[in-house]
Amino acid sequence: MENLKINIEKIQDFVSRTTVDNYKKETERHIDALYNKTGKGNDFLGWVNLPSVITEKEIKDIEKIAKSLKGKAEVVVIIGIGGSYLGAKAVIEALSGNFSFFKKDREYPLVVFAGQNLSEDYHYELLEFLNNKEFAVVVISKSGTTTEPAIAFRLLKQAVEKKYGKDGATERIIAITDAQKGALKQLADKEGYKTFEIPDDVGGRYSVLTPVGLLPIAIAGFNIRELLEGAKTMQKITDINSEFSENPASIYAAARNALYKTGRTTEIMVNYNPKLHYLAEWWKQLYGESEGKEKKGIFPASVDFTSDLHSMGQYIQEGIRNIFETVISVKEPNNTLIIPKDIKDLDKLNFIAEKPLDEVNKMAELGTILAHVDGGVPNIHIEIPKLNEFYVGQLLYFFEIGCGISGYILDVNPFDQPGVEAYKSNMFALLGKPGHEEATQKILEKLGK
Ligand code: PA5
Repeated sequence: MENLKINIEKIQDFVSRTTVDNYKKETERHIDALYNKTGKGNDFLGWVNLPSVITEKEIKDIEKIAKSLKGKAEVVVIIGIGGSYLGAKAVIEALSGNFSFFKKDREYPLVVFAGQNLSEDYHYELLEFLNNKEFAVVVISKSGTTTEPAIAFRLLKQAVEKKYGKDGATERIIAITDAQKGALKQLADKEGYKTFEIPDDVGGRYSVLTPVGLLPIAIAGFNIRELLEGAKTMQKITDINSEFSENPASIYAAARNALYKTGRTTEIMVNYNPKLHYLAEWWKQLYGESEGKEKKGIFPASVDFTSDLHSMGQYIQEGIRNIFETVISVKEPNNTLIIPKDIKDLDKLNFIAEKPLDEVNKMAELGTILAHVDGGVPNIHIEIPKLNEFYVGQLLYFFEIGCGISGYILDVNPFDQPGVEAYKSNMFALLGKPGHEEATQKILEKLGK
């Protein structure tokens, strides 16, 4: 069976293979620290073994709730932000049909998201959209105190209760939160909602393989067993017994850190399939929040090619040379579409007539890689055989373990996020939250008010 592959040949004009291989011992030490919980942030390493320790009972419980919602909701609203949003969004987008949003007579509920922003228009329009539909709500917050999802939940709870009454709402609201603490836990217990727990030792951005990701993905009709199987296979490939040269996550972590040392401070995640757009968004959170601290870290950016070759392509080819690219390539498309022959050939495209469209996409990919490497942009290439649950599971785990190793190479704690608090305290001060009076005074002075 084929698995995810990494190819770092196209970084070798910039960083030698020996330089990458010199990380062998260090990556082995870091994998050991991740498994034996001896490194920084070692109380947040529950995600390392998730694919292999999840029980049949836990999977069945998720599947059972997903099935029950299928019977009663055309739309399920998933409320959450950051790690309580991006994993589910990434996987559902990767596996859904591009136009499935508009599909009538759906077999599974349409999954939409709320609380991932504070836009009044977004939430107004969502409520309007739900108006004449049967719907249910899954609210996800590990801390149970995050402002954006808490506000969205107020709005959605009110809408469910208005439509279905208090009792009906209890059957249509599910909470995923901390096992013990937090406002959401208290509320869920008080209202009698079905709850799923987020393990204490799994941080938000590493939680996609807990109910945080698995329940929304199952509700959308995707096979979470296959997803977990893919993740488990990747865990085996990258675990404590794996050889550096056979471990794609170690090679990835080593290669990107070697490039960072040459001044490549931005990594651009590239896809050639729009379904992977949100996978890159998930990856950006994973790597940005894990590594961007202590004035260090590679800035994670992303582009969708070939669309963005017509916007960002110029910069990547000729702009400041502090970037490298990581391409996620899908070997085989799920569908076949042949370019038609045209007798008049006015567009002069008959030279590619009767070829599958994917062949042109692959030549665009190869041509771009070669051009960017020639222009001074090193390229890491990650290939999965197909876009399905199994290989998306491999990608998720690959990036997670790669992030743990890479964060340790950078010598930061990849499992905390102290920096995300700064905007919150300003926002609370500006909104006049009780207990923030001093900060409110200071910020108003700063603004000259
Ligand atoms: O990775 C993280 O820890 C964060 O992005 C959180 O997931 C995000 O802030 C949401 O937090 P919570 O689930 O507590 O509402």
